[in-house]
Amino acid sequence: MAAIIDKIEKRIIIATGFLLALFIFSILYARDKYRTDIPECLPYDKAYTEPKVNKIDEKTYQVFGVAQMWMFQPAEINVPVGSEVDFFLTSKDVVHGFNIAQKNVNMMAIYGSINKTTVRFDKPGVYDIVCHEYCGSGHQNMKAQVIVNYPQSK
Ligand code: CUA
Repeated sequence: MAAIIDKIEKRIIIATGFLLALFIFSILYARDKYRTDIPECLPYDKAYTEPKVNKIDEKTYQVFGVAQMWMFQPAEINVPVGSEVDFFLTSKDVVHGFNIAQKNVNMMAIYGSINKTTVRFDKPGVYDIVCHEYCGSGHQNMKAQVIVNYPQSK
């Protein structure tokens, strides 16, 4: 009897190991396919409270996003096609969500802490940002947009 149980346990351990490997592979695969990196947490001493967009060069931007009840700032972010954007995110009050439609971005905005992710925008269009973490009576109004256009010719 004991031998039979051992055999089943062994199979479960092998299956668990296989599933773990599959999950890790899926994360790495999604990371490459959608070109989003895995969000990082930055140290507290880099804290900021003012929202802003920094242009590093023609195709590289930094967005310092601030979430609060019940808005995101900046509410509109304009970048040209092909841009790589570092999103830094913090909150002025409670925990908010930060989801960019079509971009597989799923971050939390947390008071006193900064999360970061990098997104590349290869197609023109309007990418909606929504709060997907319930944060109070105005939760459904928390929206922002990334507008990706072709650079204007002069
Ligand atoms: Cu902020 Cu929901």
